[in-house]
Amino acid sequence: MASRKLVITMDGPAGAGKSTVAKRLAEELGYLYLDTGAMYRAVALAAQRAGVSPEKEEDLCLLAEKAAIELVPGKDGVRVFLNGEDVSEAIRTPEIDRLSSLVAKVAGVRRILVDKQRALGARGGVVAEGRDMGSVVFPEADVKFFLTASPEVRARRRFEELKKRGLDPDFPKVLAEIIERDRQDQERPIAPLVVPPGAIIIDTSNLEVEEVLRLVLAKVKEKLA
Ligand code: DC
Repeated sequence: MASRKLVITMDGPAGAGKSTVAKRLAEELGYLYLDTGAMYRAVALAAQRAGVSPEKEEDLCLLAEKAAIELVPGKDGVRVFLNGEDVSEAIRTPEIDRLSSLVAKVAGVRRILVDKQRALGARGGVVAEGRDMGSVVFPEADVKFFLTASPEVRARRRFEELKKRGLDPDFPKVLAEIIERDRQDQERPIAPLVVPPGAIIIDTSNLEVEEVLRLVLAKVKEKLA
């Protein structure tokens, strides 16, 4: 359907449904799905494996600089490779949830990853998902979305996702972690989670994925018309 290759951004807190919607939207349009959270997660995993603590800014930057992070679209979504290894599952643990939020506070790491993200989105035809896509990385994006939902709803989704993966999560703990991650992401001095200027805000608390997708697609089609 797309003749012009748009840059579409999708920001919002953890569990708002961004990944599912961004992935589906990218498929629908034949665009690249740029999962920038996966890039912060990959650096967090590299740090964990190298025994580098999130306070060691210089060491973290070296790791981020050296890390070859690839997002490879496949049959079952995008696979994430770190230095040639498929780490798609390894970056989705509760420990990496926590660590990636700390790594994402480091200015140097952000600079390095933002450069990589801009390079990937340079030619348009991208759905970029994260926390600072519409505010910092692609401020001139054609369409900006901000997806949100109540902390309880987001924690419930995360809880179900962990159960599906065979884990035995504790709901109050999952909720506390979501609230703590929101705080980390919103209060950091560099590129905090904000509603980007001009973004379309969608509260997904009471919406099914298909409904959100319909809303989002309608807005994109308006832009393409
Ligand atoms: O979206 P996610 O849960 O996979 O993101 C992992 C962490 O990375 C999260 O704590 C927020 C951070 N992040 C960020 O600071 N900027 C982005 N563009 C994407 C993610």
